[in-house]
Amino acid sequence: MTTQQEDFTKDPKNYRGAVGPAEIYDVQGATQFNLLTLLGLREHNFLLDIGCGSLRSGKLFIPYLLQGKYYGIEPNKVLIEQGIKQEICQELIDIKQPHFSNDSNFSLTTFNQSFDFILAQSIFSHASQAQIKRCFSEAKKVMKKNCIFAATFVKGEENYTGDEWVYPGVTTYTLERMKELAESEGLTCQPIDWPHPNLQSWILILQPDREESIPELTNTSKLLTLERELKVCRARVAKMEKNPYIQLAMKISRKVEQFKGKLSPK
Ligand SMILES: C[S@@+](CC[C@H](N)C(=O)[O-])C[C@H]1O[C@@H](n2cnc3c(N)ncnc32)[C@H](O)[C@@H]1O
Repeated sequence: MTTQQEDFTKDPKNYRGAVGPAEIYDVQGATQFNLLTLLGLREHNFLLDIGCGSLRSGKLFIPYLLQGKYYGIEPNKVLIEQGIKQEICQELIDIKQPHFSNDSNFSLTTFNQSFDFILAQSIFSHASQAQIKRCFSEAKKVMKKNCIFAATFVKGEENYTGDEWVYPGVTTYTLERMKELAESEGLTCQPIDWPHPNLQSWILILQPDREESIPELTNTSKLLTLERELKVCRARVAKMEKNPYIQLAMKISRKVEQFKGKLSPK
């Protein structure tokens, strides 16, 4: 990172804006929490949150999970400190005892713990191919057989070939490239249909000898889309109903129905 970017992300007042658009901080955390619980995360599971930032999703996962089950890696320790101070509170940390590391080399083995779930939200959207490869290589060592590693990336036609972490700004990859990177480290990669407020794409990284099936999410995702569309349609209809010509047409239509009712044999 450049000095300017470090200033931007290390300003304690900016702990929300440092990890993405501050106005969708809440929903960005909620979509992560909802996804993992729908995929089967339960309170007794071990969760690793790679690049946990200011605990945007950690503030939901930490109270949900049992004591000592949440693990977060975040090189920028100001973000964790502010997340605890502004979003969680020290008392909850004392009760739940999450584990944190400020490692900046994707050393997922640093906790000496294997995991049921791993999350990397908006991490591969800033990472180089070498960093993603390193992350997958480390993940392979700490993923239990049925572990689900959910991650986002920005799908594009070009594959970023630089060596640097890019922030602000994003790196893009094809789905094929993400699959190749996972497969080169002995893992599989499959896309899933789950909404993302910033239009990133979700993928699941899995062990090839996994035995459990992945819960179906497609319907839930479709339902969310339908609800959005329904809201737009309702607003359109409400607007149309206020139009004087439409109101007149509706009045005529009601009168015609009443007239038909009078004519029909009793
Ligand atoms: C866009 S933010 C996303 C934060 C969080 N996942 C969320 O959804 O709120 C990217 C985060 O990755 C962190 N990061 C940068 N380099 C990293 C590395 N080598 N390992 C883990 N996290 C890293 C940044 O400090 C930042 O907090």
